Amino acid sequence: MSFDKGLAKTVAAETEMSFIDGERGVLEYVGIDIDSLARNATFEEVVYLLWNRRLPTRDELGRFVQLLRSNSELPEPAWDMIRSIPPDAAPMHALQTMVSSLALFDPEADINTPEANDLKAVRLLSKTPALIANFDRHRKGLDMVRPRQDLSIAGGFIYMLTGEEPTETMERALDVCLILHADHGLNASTFASRVCISTLSDLYSAITAAIGTLRGPLHGGANEAVMHMLDEIGSMDDVESYLDERLRNKDKIMGFGHRVYKTFDPRATYLKTFAEQLAADTGNTDLYQMSRLIEQIMHERVGDRGIHPNVDFYSATTYFSIGLDVDLFTPMFAMSRIAGWAGHCIEQLSDNRLIRPKASYVGPHEQPWVDIDDR
Ligand code: CMC
Repeated sequence: MSFDKGLAKTVAAETEMSFIDGERGVLEYVGIDIDSLARNATFEEVVYLLWNRRLPTRDELGRFVQLLRSNSELPEPAWDMIRSIPPDAAPMHALQTMVSSLALFDPEADINTPEANDLKAVRLLSKTPALIANFDRHRKGLDMVRPRQDLSIAGGFIYMLTGEEPTETMERALDVCLILHADHGLNASTFASRVCISTLSDLYSAITAAIGTLRGPLHGGANEAVMHMLDEIGSMDDVESYLDERLRNKDKIMGFGHRVYKTFDPRATYLKTFAEQLAADTGNTDLYQMSRLIEQIMHERVGDRGIHPNVDFYSATTYFSIGLDVDLFTPMFAMSRIAGWAGHCIEQLSDNRLIRPKASYVGPHEQPWVDIDDR
């Protein structure tokens, strides 16, 4: 049996949700190209597609949207729980704790039938925007804002975060980001969720495991790291020296490179155009231009090694232009990816086998026992 470091060459699951061709830069959800989904669909429609493996009719979408909205209110004790989190906690830690605690108030938390899990997936997806937005309000000393039943997931999130009616541009921008992040094969956090559920644990535990996995800077945490990099570079004149020094030291440039894509990440292609427009509309053109220069220099230096912008690179400019605090970028990613995680967990349970790879032992053998006083 061979050791495959990082499982880069291992196929560990079958899925009907997303298809990735890393050489051609293709991403499809249930066979539909990500670009046409980003242009035409709503996030709710995409979630229906991922969970049902087909697009909904108008009536089906209406009922699904209703189901999501009617599940968006938090259990009463959850509001106190949000208030009890230290205001200076990292939002991803807060999110992990808050999502995990939802299990305490769900009588079906430990029921693993397909029907119960479908409903738990709905609850998790619908309640998370209120958790993230209200944690942000709590840490800023603002009053809590309850979810509204007449808004989309994206619109409702903006409303709770700002306390104001979402503008059409902001709602659409966020909706597109949610679509682009909804699912992506067996990425690290999705794998973590499948490993957890494969033990016949529960959906809340699996999503909690995934949130912890997403936050690392090699995965979803990269969108925040990109923003810190843009801040650190500061001016266009310093871009080249910053990158050259990092590349010389063999440091990773955040928002570049991908385990699967060896060409431009198709989500980045879409976000790039989107970020340009949004940055212009919101007075953040400087940020966009700096990102373009980084992309250009990276292309010259490492493009021939298959290192290109990934989804997190232009997400940073997009989220910043929307007005999100930097430490909410990764929670936004999680808010969307719950669709993928939950879908994968349900898929795993439909044909489950415990995921349990082996470790190759490389330590010593036949060592003598040494009494504690003789060591
Ligand atoms: N900047 C500079 N060099 C890089 C980068 C980068 N961003 N990414 C890969 N390389 C180099 C790396 O140094 C290595 O060089 P060498 O062969 O000389 O040692 C080579 O490319 C292979 O890199 P690797 O780390 O072995 O590749 P991987 O497939 O294990 O890692 C990755 C993929 C995404 C972890 C990595 O590209 C990376 O750390 N990127 C920066 C973090 C980032 O943007 N993460 C978001 C990923 S996309 C969204 C998501 O999944 O959440």
